[in-house]
Amino acid sequence: MKIISVVNQKGGMGKTTITMQLAAALSRRYRVLVVDVDPQQSTVWWAENAHRHLPFDFAGRQHPSVLARLSHLDGDYDFAIVDTPGSLEDARTLDVVVGASDFVIVPLAPEPLAVEPTMRTIQRFIEPRGVRFAVLLNRVDPRVHGQLEAWHELLDGTLGVPRFDAHLRQYKAQADAPVLGNLITTIRDNRSTQGVIWDLTMLALEMVEQLSPRLQEAW
Ligand SMILES: Nc1ncnc2c1ncn2[C@@H]1O[C@H](COP(=O)(O)OP(=O)(O)OP(=O)(O)O)[C@@H](O)[C@H]1O
Ligand SMILES: [Mg+2]
Repeated sequence: MKIISVVNQKGGMGKTTITMQLAAALSRRYRVLVVDVDPQQSTVWWAENAHRHLPFDFAGRQHPSVLARLSHLDGDYDFAIVDTPGSLEDARTLDVVVGASDFVIVPLAPEPLAVEPTMRTIQRFIEPRGVRFAVLLNRVDPRVHGQLEAWHELLDGTLGVPRFDAHLRQYKAQADAPVLGNLITTIRDNRSTQGVIWDLTMLALEMVEQLSPRLQEAW
């Protein structure tokens, strides 16, 4: 089992969205467990709105110490995905979670004010542990000409941090998903949801590719 955590001390970058939607996308081929160590419990609210019709197993809110024991579930799951708090107070939690992770996804919205706290999260919690990680651009606005290219340049050049080739665009279907309890596996495939489904499928493919060529064969 591979443990993927979604981490950024900057709030509102898409940690909960990516946890739930990536878990759903991976559940099409793999056995997936979602764990939430955020006291806000946003995943729990989302799961309740889905009336527990979830395509993955949901452990709900857990104390971060359970992560050390997750390896017991090795035979039961291919992936565990961990949602984490987006605040500065939870340093100990982030330390434990990152330490237990095989890979850390760092979501980043293309907002200049988000760069500094995101880099601080990377430098303080992720790089010292040598855990593999990549920044995932989220809420990219396709109507803003050159936005994606400019942010790729910033990440690759000035900041020099690894990033996903995949990115998630800003979509109403994505913003509405928590309150409707929707996931990529339950939203109807039509013109307004095609982009969301595409983005998340590409992310899931790249995640599997990064983590395990053996798992990749299952696609
Ligand atoms: N790709 C997207 N398109 C549209 N809305 C999005 C997208 N990603 C996230 N959102 C919305 O942005 C807000 C913040 O996202 P989310 O709750 O996933 O972030 P977070 O990092 O978990 O926040 P926190 O730090 O508070 O836990 C939510 O209202 C969510 O629905
Ligand atoms: Mg959240």
